[in-house]
Amino acid sequence: MRLATYFPALVASALAVEPFWNEPDTGLETFLRSTNWTENSLPALKEMRAIPDFDFAARHFLEDQKYSFYRTAAAGEWSYRNNLEVWSKVKFRMRMLSDVTKVNETMATTILGYNFSAPIFIAPAARGGYGDPERAEINFMEAAASENILYTTALYASKTIEELGAAKSNNTLNGPQVTFQQIYTNANFSVTWDAIARAEKTGAKAIIWTIDAPAGSTRHRAARYDTTNSNSVTSALTWDIYDQMKNRTSLPIIPKGITTVEDALIAIEKGVPAIYISNHGARQLDHSPSPLEIAYEIHRNAPDVFSKVDVLADSGVRYGTDVLKLLALGVKAVGMGRPFMYANCYGLAGVEKAIQIMKTEISHDAAQAGIHDIQKIPSSVLNMRALEDGVFIMEKPGQY
Ligand SMILES: Cc1cc2nc3c(=O)[nH]c(=O)nc-3n(C[C@H](O)[C@H](O)[C@H](O)COP(=O)(O)O)c2cc1C
Repeated sequence: MRLATYFPALVASALAVEPFWNEPDTGLETFLRSTNWTENSLPALKEMRAIPDFDFAARHFLEDQKYSFYRTAAAGEWSYRNNLEVWSKVKFRMRMLSDVTKVNETMATTILGYNFSAPIFIAPAARGGYGDPERAEINFMEAAASENILYTTALYASKTIEELGAAKSNNTLNGPQVTFQQIYTNANFSVTWDAIARAEKTGAKAIIWTIDAPAGSTRHRAARYDTTNSNSVTSALTWDIYDQMKNRTSLPIIPKGITTVEDALIAIEKGVPAIYISNHGARQLDHSPSPLEIAYEIHRNAPDVFSKVDVLADSGVRYGTDVLKLLALGVKAVGMGRPFMYANCYGLAGVEKAIQIMKTEISHDAAQAGIHDIQKIPSSVLNMRALEDGVFIMEKPGQY
């Protein structure tokens, strides 16, 4: 281990605080030193054994400005670290001797009634062209098709809505490939209406409405390179706008960025078909909660939410166990943002490999935990006592 890597750990142990590891040590760096890998080059794709390996690879390979745009988070990045670390608060209560031999057959799921091979999806993220300048998000579209998972296209993708629409496959579990289109609603509504119309025309099956970007956010790491937000203008965000949008499109509209039980309940009252729990990968507001904490708050106060609508979630998910924990709380499918952006440095094969790693981990970890049906994971598989400490409890359920 080099001194630069070792030093923070030394300081931390002297101060008796735990160091933060951006990615846990998977042995990749040690291994690469025995190969002909050089610092600024992309390690061979076959060396990517875990999702965090793609972060290591992108950090060494991409120009600093591009990596910083992907990696950045809000302010002191306390939420970014919490998104990655919070999972260890919840331990598994594995049930032994339960027959898990068919668990792999239970991986397939539905989202809004569409069929997918696994409860994971590619979250909407801008500027896929940083990872692969030529093919950009085409790789996400094709990998989602070949692996039969959902891809949610971003308004500020490097490729246009039409270019991505043209890259859709006709040969997926749903027949023609199903995608959802993410949008922002800025003061200039013509941009929103135009994006929705174009998404409809190219066959998107739902609109993901990002509601957690009311203004620019504080992102020091990216500000150094002048690449802070994709959406830096002040956004128009009220439930009235949801009503206006509903008058303009027959597509289902999914609010992305729900972080409290109150907003989840209001969304359901408004008739949304699904909600999307997220703190935007901790890129918007520091000290915003992780998806595990949000899902637990909803599970604790209004568990019916999970049966009334499909609940999607993302932010800080890096392992099969992270996915299983969210599913055990009632989440239907789990997204990842940065991991796929980093994997895109390898093009299509990299994105496919990231999906495959997650699928394998989900299946293995479910079996290890004694889960025999991934679609029906009992919450009793989790010990959530540590989340109870500090959870928000609604004083008068029904009043929010
Ligand atoms: C580089 C980057 C760009 C993003 N762009 C958008 C965007 O345009 N719209 C949006 O709703 N979310 C955007 N997000 C947030 C993701 O949809 C997702 O919520 C987040 O990446 C999940 O956290 P994770 O990166 O830890 O997996 C972006 C995230 C990243 C990392």
